This record gives sequence, structure tokens and C-alpha cells, in this order.
Amino acid sequence: MTYHNTMITLDIKILEAIEAVNELETLRNKITLLRNALISANEMDFQTNEQAILLRKDVVLSEIEQILQAQTLERAKYYLARLKKGASQIKTNGINDLNLARWKELTVEGSSDYIVTDSLWTTEKKRVASGAHSAWYHGNFMPQIPAQMLRRYTKKGDWVLDPFMGSGTTLIECKRLGRNGFGIELNPEVIKEAWRLIQEEPNEQNVITEVCEGDSRNIALLPRLKQHGVEKVQLILMHPPYHDIIKFSANPNDLSNASNTETFLQLFGQIVDNVTPILQKERHLVLVIGDKYAKGEWIPLGFYCMQEIMQRNYCLKSIVVKNFEETRGKRNNKGLWQYRALMGGFYLFKHEYIMIFQKR
Ligand SMILES: C[S@@+](CC[C@H](N)C(=O)[O-])C[C@H]1O[C@@H](n2cnc3c(N)ncnc32)[C@H](O)[C@@H]1O
Repeated sequence: MTYHNTMITLDIKILEAIEAVNELETLRNKITLLRNALISANEMDFQTNEQAILLRKDVVLSEIEQILQAQTLERAKYYLARLKKGASQIKTNGINDLNLARWKELTVEGSSDYIVTDSLWTTEKKRVASGAHSAWYHGNFMPQIPAQMLRRYTKKGDWVLDPFMGSGTTLIECKRLGRNGFGIELNPEVIKEAWRLIQEEPNEQNVITEVCEGDSRNIALLPRLKQHGVEKVQLILMHPPYHDIIKFSANPNDLSNASNTETFLQLFGQIVDNVTPILQKERHLVLVIGDKYAKGEWIPLGFYCMQEIMQRNYCLKSIVVKNFEETRGKRNNKGLWQYRALMGGFYLFKHEYIMIFQKR
């Protein structure tokens, strides 16, 4: 039996009463009773007040098992004290709401709280397309990307800017996770559909969602933020066109219409210049991008864009390499593409980058 994703709270008073016991056998008996009660407990059965910390049932049970296995009273009490601390203490790194006192729960793969800490992401599962998320927009990213970044680099109530909003994936995740979202998009048709989907997402955490039509190179951001009583955002998430791999519109200001790589980078740099002043100091900018081929050459767009950002007073925190699903066209012509790769001496793209920078 596994209890993945079942959450409970523990009454600290019960743990304190067990801690007062001075005989190993008695302590074990009391812990066994607690374990049995926990096994049959429904979610929230153990909740005592609104401030209680939610704990993962499977992790708590494994810690309880550790107490039962202890060979001495001192050891059992040591594990018990650790459980009590984790059940009563909230410890964060100051920029997110992740409880580091319960960090183990965040690293259990497959759970809904899972936080990726490795620089290699291999997502076998299909993208989450529930609720307002749908795959109507060619060139969108999987909601897991903004979800991970929001939980890692922001707190509830923080402000997040997405200057390449597209279908609004980031803003929908912002609503789900209780962050205020600010999206900019050049294409009015795309905004219309994105706004409809964003509105469909329930606003249970009462956040603000601001969407603007415009060119992210020169749209005035500060006045828009000031309307909501803020002057800074706590995270910028950028998912620009991978130059001309997908043409998003016929608009000459669209980065996917840049005539060459140099122009693309120039336009991209102008956007970084426009958004940087409203990012709070020491907070993060995330870039999601892939490379491309042109005339038989690998064009390292990701690294070129990385340089553009680093020239603007940011330090690089991480480069995550993430696999991506093949497009339907590529999947149907797999053999042909493999032949071309062998013939031309190149490798088929299977990855993109999530780069994380911190404003100095
Ligand atoms: C890769 S898509 C972003 C997709 C988005 N992450 C999603 O999940 O739907 C890039 C978007 O940037 C927009 N774009 C291109 N140039 C722009 C510019 N100068 N200002 C604002 N948006 C721009 C395109 O219209 C396109 O929708």
C-alpha cells in the first residue's frame, strides 16, 4: 500500500506525550498505536488548527518505521524529535514557500509536490493538458516548466512576468499556484484565445492576471505594474521563438521574423533590456529555448541568448537540459530524418534548455 500524495497533519501534543516516555518498549507501543491510527486516518484527520503543516503520509510513516526500528531509547527519541521538528517547523530559503524542514517530501518522484533538482529533465509523460491547458497553440511549452519555476523561485502573491505569453501557459499556472501573472504578446488573435482560456481557470487564490498586447521590446511595463500598486516582479519567464523554427505571425516585430541570427539576438537583447529594470534585485529570470540548424550548421541559439542575458548583469545559476517530444511530422518521417542525420554527420534535436539566471 502506498500513500503517495495523501496529506495529513500530526498533533504535536501526541508526539510530546510520547517523547516524555522513558522506557523503549513503552515508547514503541505508543508509536505503534500512532502508526496504526495514521494508517487508517483520512486526509486531515489529524489536523488540529489552521496553521498545522501538511505532511506526506508515506514520508511520515517511513519516519515512524525508523523510530520503531531504533535499538536504544536515545536513538528512538532522536528520530522522534526530528519528526516533531519537521511537523511543527516551517523553514524556507526566503524566495519560495517550499518547507525545507520537510525537504525529503519534495524529492519523491511522481508525487504532486515533486521538485526537480537535477539538471537533466526527461519527461516521459505527456504534457499536463488539464483544465484551461490545451495543445491548440503550436509552440507552447508544457505547464510543468512554469509550474516548477514558479514553485522554486516565487512565493504565493509574488508577481511573474512572461514577455512571450503565447497561449498563456504561464498565466494559467500562476492562477493555479496563487501568483499574480503579467503577460505580453504581440499577436492579438493569440491573446484573444489565451485570455478566454485564462478566464476559464478558476481564480481560487484571488490573484491578478494582467495581459497586454504589444511588443515586449518597448512596451511600458512600470505604469502597468503601478496600477496594481507594485513596481517590481519577482520572476521573469521567457520563452521566445527559437528564431524562425516556427513562424508565429507576419508581424516584422515578431522575433520569428528576424532576417538572421544577429538580428534575432539584437531583438532578444532589447527585450531583456526592457524587462530587467522591473525585476527585483537578486530574483530570477528563466529562459526556455532550443537550438536550430541552418544550412548544415548547428546554431547554438540557447548559448547565444545566454550570453545576451549574462552581458546584462545577471549571473548564471543553472542550465537544465530537457528532452522534448518529437513533432508529429518528425515522428512520421523518423527513418528519413535518421538517414539525413547519418548522411549529413549531425544529430537530431531531442533537447532544449531551461536556463536560470539571477539578477545581480
Ligand atoms: C514560443 S512562443 C511562447 C509560447 C508560450 N510559452 C506558450 O506556452 O504558449 C513565443 C511567442 O512570442 C510571441 N512574440 C514574438 N515576438 C514578440 C515580441 N516582440 N513581443 C511580444 N511577443 C512576441 C509570439 O507571437 C509567440 O506567441
